[in-house]
Amino acid sequence: MIDTLPKIYDTAKDFMPLNGTDYLELYVSNSKQAAHYYKSAFGFQSLAYAGLETGMKDRESYVVVQDKIRIVLTSPLRSGTAIGKHIDKHGDGIKVVALWVNDATYAYETAMEKGATSYMEPQIEEDEHGQVVKSGIYTYGETVHVFIERKDYKGVFLPGFKKWETKYFNPSPVGLKYVDHMVGNVALGRMDYWVNFYEKVMGFVNILSFDDNDISTEYTALMSKVVSNGNGRIKFPINEPAEGLKRSQVDEYLDFYEGEGIQHIAVATGNIIETVKQLSSRGVEFLRVPNTYYDTVLDRVGEIDEELVALKEFGILVDRDEEGYLLQIFTKPVEPRPTMFFEIIQRKGAHSFGKGNFKALFEAIEREQELRGTL
Ligand code: FE2
Repeated sequence: MIDTLPKIYDTAKDFMPLNGTDYLELYVSNSKQAAHYYKSAFGFQSLAYAGLETGMKDRESYVVVQDKIRIVLTSPLRSGTAIGKHIDKHGDGIKVVALWVNDATYAYETAMEKGATSYMEPQIEEDEHGQVVKSGIYTYGETVHVFIERKDYKGVFLPGFKKWETKYFNPSPVGLKYVDHMVGNVALGRMDYWVNFYEKVMGFVNILSFDDNDISTEYTALMSKVVSNGNGRIKFPINEPAEGLKRSQVDEYLDFYEGEGIQHIAVATGNIIETVKQLSSRGVEFLRVPNTYYDTVLDRVGEIDEELVALKEFGILVDRDEEGYLLQIFTKPVEPRPTMFFEIIQRKGAHSFGKGNFKALFEAIEREQELRGTL
């Protein structure tokens, strides 16, 4: 199926061509156990490993893969490291959103020229399988974008990694295909700053905006703007808290993450009912909206292909825009702090983000906040 993007994407300046998300790297307190969790609960497969056995002295990384999604789970091997400090401050969370480019030196130089802060100057990494060029810039909080130029690299992941094979434990995939979008939470008054950053530094365009009237409940509110590159493969909604009667989920995140960072990763599936059924049976916990949501949902979204009873069984949400509809569901946070979580999304023509579900969803989050005493 050829997917035609809305016209607004054509207005992206796109001077920094991005082919897609290359990988996400999480700094976690126990990479070995985290890798096991992403395999057993989310259906990722073993891909690569780096650690003492591969000459890596200060850290251990496991890389897991599912279709186009690669997640790197990294822990320090000793005290007093930058990785350890990151984990102490933020808890487990996303450090690197790596972007696949054709020229990592050009991407870096262009970004720096336009005002980015350097994380890593262009450097060549190589092993017997070839060369990769990496460079990196900071985005919000301590989060970074690493540009990955793969040239004709033939290795399993990146130089320094060896193939990670697990003979007896390879849970089946659950149908996750690619990263659809990644949402950042930034401090009060900082959303426009970061929208401007992506426009200016990376040539993105602001494709959608939601104000606190769009995203509010009786108690809390937030604002959000979505930036995208021209081919629509990299979409970053950016949230900031808004004034409400009680503390919003963005405030709670900023408090527990101790700063700005990535709130959720939305991953696409071609069959959300099957994917969520699998994830649920493997212990992934999802936010639930009240069953009454399903009494009126079809009045709002019209006819859909899926059986309502299956959507209701798993708590899957539906929304429609001018182009089609989408199905989505959100996990509970996947670490002790109420910070990062996943969204599972299936798009059936719609390019939007589920505005019609915001209210029901945020009320569900408020009920969780209430239980945590953080509302
Ligand atoms: Fe999302």
